[in-house]
Amino acid sequence: MANLLHLDASPRNQRSHSRKLSGEFVEAWKHSYPNDTVTYRDVGQNPVPHVDEAWIAAAYTPPEQLTPELQEAIRISNYLVDEFLAADIYVIGVPMYNLSIPSTFKAYIDQIVRIGRTFALAPENPTNPYQPLVLGKKMFIIATRGGSGFSVGGQYEQMNFQTPYLAAVFGFLGISDITFVEMENDELGGQKLTEALALARIQIAQLVGKKKIFSQHT
Ligand SMILES: Cc1cc2nc3c(=O)[nH]c(=O)nc-3n(C[C@H](O)[C@H](O)[C@H](O)COP(=O)(O)O)c2cc1C
Repeated sequence: MANLLHLDASPRNQRSHSRKLSGEFVEAWKHSYPNDTVTYRDVGQNPVPHVDEAWIAAAYTPPEQLTPELQEAIRISNYLVDEFLAADIYVIGVPMYNLSIPSTFKAYIDQIVRIGRTFALAPENPTNPYQPLVLGKKMFIIATRGGSGFSVGGQYEQMNFQTPYLAAVFGFLGISDITFVEMENDELGGQKLTEALALARIQIAQLVGKKKIFSQHT
């Protein structure tokens, strides 16, 4: 039995392709692995706060020295980090916004990248002072785009700060097993969009259909 964290980052509802596809992914997953539990977080429609000065002070204060005010400053962050760490599998739907990710998803990432919780500093090791703390997880990211050519080998690959950034930041935390489902052509619409959606659905069916994705799954 595994714990799946399902996260959506699009502010759109019915019109969102990433939301629709992440939902289909999780429904198929529940069908294949009915004993798994699912937690849902929607940062697209229910954004989390940005970090502020009190948050930064609190995050860099040893837990035993936190004042009630500083504890309050990272209360939401603690909740989100606990939720993030409790998951074994992540399914994330996220659009490309201005070559990168929506600011609401960046705000979420800023809340969960926490020293001592999701990464550690090891100053005694100057060549590699960062230690990842989120190990043994699996992540699926459904990345949508209005244009095309941002994937590997595409004419705009160098301008893609969406999927490479997500691989880097979650890799920094220790999540190296990340599978991307990229769906382009939303803005082109028509046949191109129909084909892109169909291709994404085939990829999702193949990913969920794989047997024994984890040792927890028999
Ligand atoms: C503010 C904004 C910025 C966008 N920037 C880009 C972009 O840089 N490149 C791109 O291909 N599509 C861009 N798009 C299009 C979205 O990535 C596309 O509509 C995608 O399907 C949105 O995800 P969703 O369908 O889950 O809402 C942008 C859309 C919005 C609203």
